[in-house]
Amino acid sequence: MHSTISLSDKTNYYLNLEEKYGAHNYHPLPVVLKKGLGVHLWDVDDKQYYDFLSGYSAVNQGHCHPKIVDALKSQADILTLTSRAFHNNLLGEYEQYITSYFGYDKVLPMNTGVEGGETAIKLARRWGYQVKGIEKNNAKIIFAEGNFWGRTMAAISSSTDPSSYNNFGPFMPGFELVPYNDLVSLEKAFQDKNVAAFMFEPIQGEAGVVVPDEGYIAGVRKLCSEYNVLMIADEIQTGLARTGKMLACDHENVKPDILILGKALSGGMLPISAVLCNDEIMLTIKPGEHGSTYGGNPLACKVAMSALQVLKDEKMAENATEMGVLFRNELLKINSPFISCIRGRGLLNAIVINHKNPDAAWDLCMELKVQGLLAKPTHGDKIRFAPPLTITKEQILDSITIIKQSLSIL
Ligand SMILES: Cc1ncc(COP(=O)(O)O)c(C=O)c1O
Repeated sequence: MHSTISLSDKTNYYLNLEEKYGAHNYHPLPVVLKKGLGVHLWDVDDKQYYDFLSGYSAVNQGHCHPKIVDALKSQADILTLTSRAFHNNLLGEYEQYITSYFGYDKVLPMNTGVEGGETAIKLARRWGYQVKGIEKNNAKIIFAEGNFWGRTMAAISSSTDPSSYNNFGPFMPGFELVPYNDLVSLEKAFQDKNVAAFMFEPIQGEAGVVVPDEGYIAGVRKLCSEYNVLMIADEIQTGLARTGKMLACDHENVKPDILILGKALSGGMLPISAVLCNDEIMLTIKPGEHGSTYGGNPLACKVAMSALQVLKDEKMAENATEMGVLFRNELLKINSPFISCIRGRGLLNAIVINHKNPDAAWDLCMELKVQGLLAKPTHGDKIRFAPPLTITKEQILDSITIIKQSLSIL
């Protein structure tokens, strides 16, 4: 069935404004939010919700975390942007902080996640030519099928999702695909001496929280080392405590050659991304060869340090592990015939809906909204459940009750 939901005049007012004046490049749930705190959001009619998307894992620390807000506000009064034409008094401190936090020689600060991906690819190509000795313009980057790393021309050039790439060609050359979670195919692709890097997500988020077999991440590491190919981990969605470890690669004690972070690096305050690697790779890029007006701005540096500190101080990875186990166990107990699969790690989880109605996942999300929980389908039949990592046991159990009740509309 299709949920018929009546919307308030206020809500309709805002929906109509967006419909009329904004590009139609998203299909949001019809809810208009005006406030957030911790795991909760409020709409323009003051209805309260649990946020089970967390801004696609950008708000791991919870909405408007007071310490991160403080960092933002206090720095906003002093200095926000210098550009990299000059130095600022926070960039170096931030660079020292984040490189020792993750154990790399250097960081290259950018803004959005997709810029982080672009940066990693430029670094890998440059390293391929200067260090590995690949002939000019022949470097190849391998990606996994089902990947998602954004919407730029390069990002969609590696995509296997027609809604990402259709009618946007021609595409970036030098990209190749292998099936995800398939080390045999990866090794085959690595026979080509022109391969500079393999870029992948340790868990594929947008694809519907696809968790690879145990040993896959370690297997990727081993093959990359064996074939002198850079391992690029896109931890923009999986990183920063989301899956129960600071990085998803930590589950297999693996250190990527290039690490890409974004989203929760600012706790939802502003776009901040970072690419980390060692000198052999980072120092192949020289002044003037890469950058961004806002990358490394003092406001971002202050916010990112606070966002990272909060994750550690409040033991968010530990809570994600504990609450994730509870959440998946409780979901299993619901035992709904309409849930064909429950998967995830930490608090990055998804269910796959099995129903004759192709809109069932959307309808369920509409009902969840009515019941006070916000989640969004991905790729039709999958619903991601990724609340802020501050969620408590009581709130998990309450959310499970809402999910159980909402399933009854299917
Ligand atoms: C794994 C991954 N990489 C990259 C991106 C792109 O990040 P942004 O939207 O900030 O450009 C996303 C966004 O969802 C993502 O999930």
